[in-house]
Amino acid sequence: MTDLGITAGENYNDYVGPAEEYDFMGASQFRLLCTLGLRSKHKLLDFGCGSLRAGRLFLTYLDEGCYYGVDPNRWLIEDAIKFQVGQDLLRIKKPFFSYNDQFSLAEFETHFDFILAQSILTHTGIDLVRLCLQNFARYLKPDGLILATFLEGDYDTEGDSWEYPMCVTFRPSTIRQLAQDVGLVGISIPWFRPRQTWYVFAKDQDRLPTEAMFPYLHGAVLFDSMLGSSKK
Ligand SMILES: C[S@@+](CC[C@H](N)C(=O)[O-])C[C@H]1O[C@@H](n2cnc3c(N)ncnc32)[C@H](O)[C@@H]1O
Repeated sequence: MTDLGITAGENYNDYVGPAEEYDFMGASQFRLLCTLGLRSKHKLLDFGCGSLRAGRLFLTYLDEGCYYGVDPNRWLIEDAIKFQVGQDLLRIKKPFFSYNDQFSLAEFETHFDFILAQSILTHTGIDLVRLCLQNFARYLKPDGLILATFLEGDYDTEGDSWEYPMCVTFRPSTIRQLAQDVGLVGISIPWFRPRQTWYVFAKDQDRLPTEAMFPYLHGAVLFDSMLGSSKK
């Protein structure tokens, strides 16, 4: 396990990460998926959606019934609705939420164009990563994309526990192998993410971004000294 010095606060905007990053971390996920072709008609699963850091932006953008969120900490979603989203947007966009903690997607009875798992597989032992990727693959459309962050390291974190706010590491070769085991192909992309690395998974190699596309997948933020390292 790795201690990145991040604590889990008690409020909706600091339980999921540093409060001063709440805006940026949501915007970054939204920008990444839009860069990868997310359109309003697409069905998006925001797995471990937390306090709708990204969800509040996707909800505004996507068509009615296209946003699906899973998070067992129901209070995070409820506070995000209270303080960020509002009942009017829920009434208009009719999102689906599940509060199950079993890493199950069965209750939605649908397949997704995009599956997002931001800072989730950085807290799960290898058995849970396997389970997640298996379920993601099962409910991903044939041409869909999975976006997930990992903390790359020199060793793999064994077991099936959820570690929070501590992080777990996996070797890049293990991440690719876990994906392959469930019929996915995956690569890391250069999209800026403090501390973690973004991976893209698909059912077909041809669906993955090529290295020639990497300059478009940078995620740099200009004119903000806090995010200066994003321009490297
Ligand atoms: C670091 S936060 C990331 C939240 C969100 N993805 C974001 O970027 O703002 C980790 C989230 O995982 C959620 N979580 C914990 N156990 C989970 C489970 N079994 N299934 C799905 N999400 C879970 C937590 O409640 C928390 O909201």
